[in-house]
Amino acid sequence: MSLPKQVKIVEVGPRDGLQNETEIISVQRRIKLIQNLAFSGLRHIEAGSFVSPAWVPQMADTAEVLMGLNPDEGIHYPVLVPNLRGLQDALAAGARDVAVFAAASETFSQKNINCSIRESIQRFSELMALARANDIRVRAYVSCVLGCPYEGAIEVSQVADVARQLHELGCYEISLGDTIGTGTPLKTRSLIESVAQHIDIENIAVHFHDTYGQALANIFAALQSGVNVIDSAVAGLGGCPYAAGASGNVATEDVVYMLNGMGISTGVDLSKLTASGREICDQLNISVRSKVNLALQ
Ligand code: HMG
Ligand code: MG
Repeated sequence: MSLPKQVKIVEVGPRDGLQNETEIISVQRRIKLIQNLAFSGLRHIEAGSFVSPAWVPQMADTAEVLMGLNPDEGIHYPVLVPNLRGLQDALAAGARDVAVFAAASETFSQKNINCSIRESIQRFSELMALARANDIRVRAYVSCVLGCPYEGAIEVSQVADVARQLHELGCYEISLGDTIGTGTPLKTRSLIESVAQHIDIENIAVHFHDTYGQALANIFAALQSGVNVIDSAVAGLGGCPYAAGASGNVATEDVVYMLNGMGISTGVDLSKLTASGREICDQLNISVRSKVNLALQ
């Protein structure tokens, strides 16, 4: 069995986590959370989104969050941008890394970003020109890769097609989002095999929500398939406001613990990470959703 020696973790708690919590967290606390996560050793921390605050109020003022972070050569703070306007606002706030987000389900695309898949790709292609001119790195998500809250099962070929188009636009990494956490390990493996026919495996990331408790098993399947970029959220925060029933992302603490146990390095200090997970959960008035974090208390 071949497994990577090292894995890149993309921490999405300050974005995917907080965007779906009912409690709105202040800019100062969002900055502190990101600083704590960086202190734990995470080097890719999604800092927020430049989306309509009417749609996702939790992510309002992401510009202030970005401007409150000290630029650090070694740390990336990507932000979500749904359109050209989002990229323009992100640039004005000093963003160097952004992420666009498409879906493999037409209905989800409409509910999430109010346009068809085809229109979203068109929007992103306009945005890519500005990104290129400003030397901005663009990541891309594909949602609903293993199921859609509205359409149910999604064809693997549809996921591969959307992923390929995003890659051809110039997105450096394609994160496959199991938005509602319905995936299981063998389906994960065949999904990755299909996408890897179009995109180098080094450019594929996995993004599991843990709604059905399958996330770690799916991540293990993805690692065996050669993936070495994993998205996760501290304390298992979050969900997606446009995917009813989507519970939190897989917890970063649980991912780091599993990888540590397999001798795969992440550069993350688990005790600093658990402390930051507890602090944000206290502020949100919720209990920690990471089993590892609970076990280490
Ligand atoms: P729309 O209503 O179609 O856009 O929304 P519009 O162009 O008609 O504009 C409507 C209003 O929005 C206007 O303001 C625009 O100025 C404003 P008004 O004139 O009414 O005052 N607007 C913006 N404001 C701020 N930032 C912008 C922006 N663009 C337009 N960038 C839009 C289209 C995409 C903006 C909207 O649908 C939206 O914001 N959606 C948010 C979607 C979202 O954030 N979803 C959660 C993240 S995705 C996710 O969680 C999945 C992921 O984790 C992977 C996985 O798990 O699968 C990534
Ligand atoms: Mg997500």
